[in-house]
Amino acid sequence: MSHATRLAVLAGSFDPPTNGHVDMITRAAALFDRVVVALLVNPAKQPLFALDERLEMMRELVAQMPAVEIDTFDGLLADYVRKRNAAAVVRGLRTAAEFSEEWQMALMNRHLNPACETVFLVPAAEHMQISSRLVREIASLGGPVTGLVAPSVEARLARRFPARRGGS
Ligand code: PNS
Repeated sequence: MSHATRLAVLAGSFDPPTNGHVDMITRAAALFDRVVVALLVNPAKQPLFALDERLEMMRELVAQMPAVEIDTFDGLLADYVRKRNAAAVVRGLRTAAEFSEEWQMALMNRHLNPACETVFLVPAAEHMQISSRLVREIASLGGPVTGLVAPSVEARLARRFPARRGGS
């Protein structure tokens, strides 16, 4: 495997992007020459935020990270990795429970593209409990998401759930 510039792919739906995602991007950018954050265009479920909104949020979050680019993909991640000639897919591992599913996905991606390596990174301890699904749920029920997402994302969530803004 030879890559002049080592590119890492961080794929996901990022609905919305969380501080855990930013942590992963930052760690990946320290390990690889370049990182592409690849937003899945056709998730199975209807997303809370449209693709354009997720792209906009993500662009704001990585604005100060010159080695990070934002892209979209549809179809198989293994094909996208091939198309980009990426060195690896980077995935965050929060809990042991996540491992078996991530391991299966890594093996399946390699089955589909033998050059597709997966690198698992451990997020900062304070980000371990964050997931987009929980952030969506908390925000929709009027709970606080400060510290879980960036202020710009928090503001969008507050606009999306105006009746619940303020908590009670
Ligand atoms: O935000 P998520 O749910 O962690 O992202 C999951 C994602 C987008 C990485 C995964 O669903 C994916 O790779 N989807 C693309 C379709 C694909 O390649 N499926 C086969 C996986 S082995």
